[in-house]
Amino acid sequence: EMQRSLVGSEMCIRDRYRRIKMKKVLTYGTFDLLHPGHIYLLKEAKKLGDELIVGVSTDEFNSIKHKTSFLPYEYRKEMVKSIKYVDEVIPETNWDQKVEDIKRLGIDVLVMGDDWKGSDKFEYLKQFCDVVFLPKMEGLSSTKFRGHVEEYVKLMEEDE
Ligand code: CTP
Repeated sequence: EMQRSLVGSEMCIRDRYRRIKMKKVLTYGTFDLLHPGHIYLLKEAKKLGDELIVGVSTDEFNSIKHKTSFLPYEYRKEMVKSIKYVDEVIPETNWDQKVEDIKRLGIDVLVMGDDWKGSDKFEYLKQFCDVVFLPKMEGLSSTKFRGHVEEYVKLMEEDE
């Protein structure tokens, strides 16, 4: 009798949990040489829902975009995954996967930095979910840090 009522109450909690719809947020980026601009974006994105999923650009996709990251995909993925605001990382491999991702993952909000505002790469997604552009932190970019790191590596190599 006691066991049955325990099972009963557990099921009740599970049913109740299922009825609460988790709000899912999605964002995309390269996230090379993590900097405070990335952390800020992810923190603000997470505030817009319950679960944050991040599409990290693969090295192959970056080469299509004529971009070369300092850190390879596996490293960037591990670092983004370890951020406390991030619940899941998926690979971003092409420009056209977004609608599929939004539908498959049941995304409620897509978040991007406001440098993408007005771009036809994102505006059309407003028919599938909310699209929010967050302001970027001024003066910070992977490109800038990549320059410093590459210069440093070169100097070290010259020294040897
Ligand atoms: N981001 C931000 N503030 C910054 C830099 C980036 O909010 N100063 C956000 C971007 O808007 C994007 C996410 O972080 O939504 C990942 O951006 P990513 O392209 O990896 O960062 P950048 O540092 O801008 O990279 P790059 O210089 O290579 O373009």
